[in-house]
Amino acid sequence: MLLEAVFRQYGYDFRDYAYSSLNRRISYFAQRLNIATISELQGKILYEPKLMEGLVNTLSITVTEMFRDPSFFEVFRKKIIPYLKEIPHIRIWHAGCSSGEEVYSMAILLHEEGLYEKSIIYATDINEKVLKEAKEGKVPLKKMQQYTKNYIEAGGIKEFSKYYCANEKCAIFHSFLQKNIVFAHHNLVTDQSFNEFHMIICRNVIIYFNEQLKERVFQLFYESLTEDGYLGLGSKESLICSSYTDQFQEVDVQNKLFKKVT
Ligand SMILES: C[S@@+](CC[C@H](N)C(=O)[O-])C[C@H]1O[C@@H](n2cnc3c(N)ncnc32)[C@H](O)[C@@H]1O
Repeated sequence: MLLEAVFRQYGYDFRDYAYSSLNRRISYFAQRLNIATISELQGKILYEPKLMEGLVNTLSITVTEMFRDPSFFEVFRKKIIPYLKEIPHIRIWHAGCSSGEEVYSMAILLHEEGLYEKSIIYATDINEKVLKEAKEGKVPLKKMQQYTKNYIEAGGIKEFSKYYCANEKCAIFHSFLQKNIVFAHHNLVTDQSFNEFHMIICRNVIIYFNEQLKERVFQLFYESLTEDGYLGLGSKESLICSSYTDQFQEVDVQNKLFKKVT
């Protein structure tokens, strides 16, 4: 009932998110606000849009890292970069980009491969708060040690610190990395395709969706890829067992890279 009401009032559709994690998150949200029942929460949310923002922030898990699962980026360099080198104007979509760490990682990789200038990266998310952070291009300085390690493991070939300047708290990416990135709001549940892409990266997002919603998202990705485009998923996600298995070929099983074939 709460999710139905939220959808009708605000257009946010969480009805097909995986039940157990959704349930846990809603209870946590209610507890934090000292709200005893879900019907009380529903009543409050419908009249307080600010509270709805808080619920979106709680339901969308935004944990991310630069060069997360470094082997994904290493294999991307080896197996996808040769394909992208042949394309005059590259379009990449990061769906569920969170605060942008994955997107800046991709911008760095493309820059090092001499492809950034001819690329445009669309980075989308449902959550306005993280999109705002992503546009700022800052990450907490304390995380840079781990990110530098990831960068090296991912096959990074330069001094990582040359991509940012630092103050006491933050690392701020150099503006040339932002030049070809478009950050925008897009909801994978309710919005349509908005372009045709050579590569779609959607990692650690559909893990929170039920099977029916995963199918919807695979269809969206299938329709949004060029004829021979690539799809990258998160380490615990797969197309296998979906009805799109035959439309994609596995390029790297471990790193969840797929190529559209039909
Ligand atoms: C765990 S983060 C993953 C971030 C990044 N892709 C990574 O792997 O590091 C999941 C992101 O998906 C976003 N998300 C959740 N539901 C979404 C939806 N329906 N449409 C678009 N983004 C969504 C969340 O807001 C969150 O920022």
